[in-house]
Amino acid sequence: MDYKKIIASMTLEEKASLCSGRDFWHTKAVKSQKIPEIMVSDGPHGLRKQPASQDHLGNFESIKAVCFPAACATAASFDRTLLNKMGKALGAECQAENVSTILGPAVNIKRSPLCGRNFEYFSEDPMVAAELSGALIKGIQSKNIGTSIKHFLANNQETRRLTESAEVDERTLREIYLAAFEGAVKNAKPWTVMCSYNRINGLHASENKTYLTDILRDEWGFDGVVMSDWGAVNERVKGLAAGLDLEMPGSYGVNDREIIAAVEKGSLSVKTLDNTVERILKWIDRYTSKKQKDAKWDKDADHELAGKIETESAVLLKNEDGVLPLDHNDTIAVIGRFAKAPRYQGGGSSHINSYKVTSFMDAAKGKGHDLVYADGYDVDKDEVDRTLITKAVNIAKKSDVAVIFAGLPDVFESEGYDRSHMRLPENQNALIEEVLGVQPNVIVVLHNGSAVEMPWADKVKGIFEMYLGGQNVGTAEYDLLFGKANPSGRLPETFPVKLSDNPSYLNFPGYNDTVKYAEGVFVGYRYYDTKEANVLFPFGHGLSYTTYKYSNLKLSKRKIKAGDPLTVSVDVTNVGRMAGKEVVQLYVAAPQDGIPRPVHELRGFDKVSLKAGETKTVTFELDSRAFAYWNQDIHDWYVAAGDYGIEVGSSSRDIQYMKKVNIESAVKLPMTITENTCFGDLLGDPKYADVLKPLINSYLHIDKKEKPKSSDAISDRMAQEMLKFTPLRCVISFGDGEYDHEKLARAIKNLQEIYDKK
Ligand code: BGC
Repeated sequence: MDYKKIIASMTLEEKASLCSGRDFWHTKAVKSQKIPEIMVSDGPHGLRKQPASQDHLGNFESIKAVCFPAACATAASFDRTLLNKMGKALGAECQAENVSTILGPAVNIKRSPLCGRNFEYFSEDPMVAAELSGALIKGIQSKNIGTSIKHFLANNQETRRLTESAEVDERTLREIYLAAFEGAVKNAKPWTVMCSYNRINGLHASENKTYLTDILRDEWGFDGVVMSDWGAVNERVKGLAAGLDLEMPGSYGVNDREIIAAVEKGSLSVKTLDNTVERILKWIDRYTSKKQKDAKWDKDADHELAGKIETESAVLLKNEDGVLPLDHNDTIAVIGRFAKAPRYQGGGSSHINSYKVTSFMDAAKGKGHDLVYADGYDVDKDEVDRTLITKAVNIAKKSDVAVIFAGLPDVFESEGYDRSHMRLPENQNALIEEVLGVQPNVIVVLHNGSAVEMPWADKVKGIFEMYLGGQNVGTAEYDLLFGKANPSGRLPETFPVKLSDNPSYLNFPGYNDTVKYAEGVFVGYRYYDTKEANVLFPFGHGLSYTTYKYSNLKLSKRKIKAGDPLTVSVDVTNVGRMAGKEVVQLYVAAPQDGIPRPVHELRGFDKVSLKAGETKTVTFELDSRAFAYWNQDIHDWYVAAGDYGIEVGSSSRDIQYMKKVNIESAVKLPMTITENTCFGDLLGDPKYADVLKPLINSYLHIDKKEKPKSSDAISDRMAQEMLKFTPLRCVISFGDGEYDHEKLARAIKNLQEIYDKK
């Protein structure tokens, strides 16, 4: 397609019309140029293609499809290959259903456990979100289907999501919220990006040039289409000028007319519009030129795959006395409605019309395994139902072990609103406590999209976190509980003991349409670990039916210059009797002597498969970003000089080995020395000594007759300490009279020259 030629022969009206959707799911065709319309669909963990009545909140029917585990679960797999496989399956489904682009993945950071859409998001850590979403994107796009990484940017809550302003500082945006997108955009090159509803520091994401153009396109090299979230356009012309290409779902021509008027008035340049049109044409062409004819997809195969993915994703949080795996010969009481009708996906635009659902009880039945069952609670109610609990207690009493299927009901957790607390429904907590009263061997299997409080965690023997595990969650549950599969999921988020422990607690969801990200970069484990706070389950935690041992941590160098690569390797051995998969995690602990930094940050992870007795060497390549923070003075990444800890382990709280590397900084930060520069800012460096000495002597009245003797009230050492935070100008008022402003200015000039010297 010769885009430039086509654009040159398009009318202004045709160009403007291409910049918004025809309806909820289609772009507009341009008949004169034979440009076809293309279809997009949600996303992200299955296909929500609506052939007839359309909406963005999942109210109207969509085609029967396969619901894969949601991102909360797949992130816990920590497995790039698995996400890639899932992407390929989704891509093939889109090919067969004539969907050009699937609206996902969603990579917003889990800032608070309460965010209603956490189930669609990957992690509290940007690297996990970027790497795993990137693998998914690559899988989908390998089938020549587009993705739309979303919701760009700082959309971390549902409360007032269309109007609130996320007030976030530059460093926090770079290190946490942008970073989740950056890695995926740079490495996986999504065809499109979806901008979010909210404002960022006052300005709507949909008209924020800093993010949509300066960072996304100019810095990261994104060359695709930016589309709006459904209804995120505030002022269309401003948006277009900022880099927002496509308005979805369209506005019945209202905003197209604004574009036309702005071009006619000269307030929007034709060049800007043409650039947008070119990007949209390229996207349409990318899909249509390689569209497969007669593509088919196999629902049953994808159902199987959904079960496999969930098996690799579920997290075994607790396994006391080896209560798991379950013994087939034991009498097992299965309790809880979710064993028969699991909660396996969340509400809203990602809601899939599953063609089939396999529950735990279905899976057991499929294996000819008869199990006693009781409902235990009413999913639609919060209140305790005594009759249901009594029935559950009765079967638990007569069994060797009770497995309780619990979790959050649909109404607790959905797109469109946030959770109001972090607890399970009252009736489920009461059920667990009462079963514990008659049965010492209790296992809880959880179905939820984000962290929950577990007041009974110390008392039960086993806890499985299934997250929202997709339509074949039951098969995964059966295989994991009975040891046919070895659990290998790890928490991509910290489970705090209680909601008020979370760093965003005092600033979520904000007020007056404003939410202050006051915790800064201290999100999730970056906060809990730095604060040495007690947590229920740490980031990266997850047990296995086997045991792994780490040894032989090696660094390629012990001293490097910022920018030099560092290779780290470690051996991991499966010392148990069952094959399994370990998620090896690498954290970097930056020196703690300058700008506040988290005690450590995840900079590498790898999932390795190990047979019983097998050892593998895991290798990580670290570049300068692994050590850098975003410096707001130079508006760039900066590696400070010092000793950095290289930690490897199996959770953020289970570091097995640590070695240090010394890094020499490669960049000199700018410094302007003024009368208000403190002595302490210069004292550490001997190169200033000659100029500083007379200033200090004058300030402390040294070498003068009236020099005071050290008194009891203030020792020499104390005076030196106080000097640190004393600005140079104080030498004039508190010194011995040697300095006036002119003389001080000469000294400052000298100091500045010394600093500026290479
Ligand atoms: C959601 C998006 C979704 C879109 C289309 C919006 O409400 O925020 O994630 O892709 O609707 O359904």
